[in-house]
Amino acid sequence: MARGAIGTGVFLLLLPLLILGCAQGEKQDTGASERVRLVFKHGRIAGDPRLFHQLLRDFEQQNPGITVVDETLPSSTDEQHQFYIINLEGSSADFDVLSMDVIWIPEFARAGWLRDISHLMPLQERGKFFPGPMQAVTYRDRVYAIPWYTDAGVLFYRKDILKKHGFSPPKTWQELVATARAVIDKEPGLYGFIWQGKQYEGLICNVLEYFWSNGGEVLKNELPVINSPENIEALRFMRDLLVTYSITPPLVTTAIEEPTRHIFGNGRALFMRNWPYAWNIFEQEGSPVRGRVGVAPLPSFPGKTSASTLGGWQLGVNRYSRNPEAAEKLILFLTSPTVQKTLARTIGYKPTRTSLYRDQDLVREQPFITGLHDIFMQARPRPVSPYYMMITQVMQPEFSAALAGIKTPEEALNAAQKQIEHILGVER
Ligand code: GLC
Repeated sequence: MARGAIGTGVFLLLLPLLILGCAQGEKQDTGASERVRLVFKHGRIAGDPRLFHQLLRDFEQQNPGITVVDETLPSSTDEQHQFYIINLEGSSADFDVLSMDVIWIPEFARAGWLRDISHLMPLQERGKFFPGPMQAVTYRDRVYAIPWYTDAGVLFYRKDILKKHGFSPPKTWQELVATARAVIDKEPGLYGFIWQGKQYEGLICNVLEYFWSNGGEVLKNELPVINSPENIEALRFMRDLLVTYSITPPLVTTAIEEPTRHIFGNGRALFMRNWPYAWNIFEQEGSPVRGRVGVAPLPSFPGKTSASTLGGWQLGVNRYSRNPEAAEKLILFLTSPTVQKTLARTIGYKPTRTSLYRDQDLVREQPFITGLHDIFMQARPRPVSPYYMMITQVMQPEFSAALAGIKTPEEALNAAQKQIEHILGVER
């Protein structure tokens, strides 16, 4: 009797676990008749999310038995990174497919958080993607994600206003200053040049473009060289955009991509540095700047070469996913030539597959895509290292302090140099 009571008690205690177990069993993608519920995490979709959801429904139709639930994270890459660190560190199986910034893969792969998906990417297939993103998804010769869409910093300009005042798109930063100064003196209410200056990852992307286009580097032969004269000059120039030349409004020091895109899209700025996604939104019906926006490579310092930061997002499978095979199907679908083409036409995500830059429809509808091909080919990666997140967390407050005038560029870069040496264990 007593034994029976204990037995029932144990059974009742285990009941919730058993129910949970059954629920999880339902999710597994082993049995053909069971429904798989795939959770796909990604940042906020630019533009109209309905077009994106339609693609997910198409995938479900092609793969009966799989339902895709997509869950949106905040648009800032730093906040998304935070989410993954906490959840993957806790071996969370709450999501199956994740969209990852180009800078995270070495860190995530080293931590063992991603499924090795090299089998999905035979050598011949790897050659079809831009080399930068392909390098970013490869860690110790294994592939951990498939490049989904690519990014590189570009200069957006108002074709109509430049023409009206007899200017062409600037080739050097100094020309950009002179042009913006001359135009905004005659067009009150118009901002000269906006970019992303908040203390976050986007600021690093912006600052590196000035360093590189002045011949500077962050690491050389894996050693930090961030406090070089070239970098000090470049950072001082950025501060001057705000204070000396006053072509950049102070709001830029708290701005990320979308606020700057809104300002430019409302016709309130002459030049903007941003990622290419913005162009499709500018060209939508009803947009105040439709037909008036040009895209050019970023300027450089005189006699130096223009440089764009390589950005972009990659799809990988959570190592703890209970549905790895279905997850692989979804990432193959989303990175396929057809879907990349649709994403480029609808929401402006730029393909990671090089052949699409010769696609007749895309070239006709978005002629500047041909020029983007070369920019993406040459785009520069941020330091590729499992310690990148530590390095960026050192650079962000230092760059921000220099822009705000709290530190001189030299002080900020000397401080960054010391801290990066410490992270990398460099002896002095
Ligand atoms: C874009 C880029 C990404 C970068 C981020 C910075 O999303 O694709 O690589 O880190 O902007 O804000």
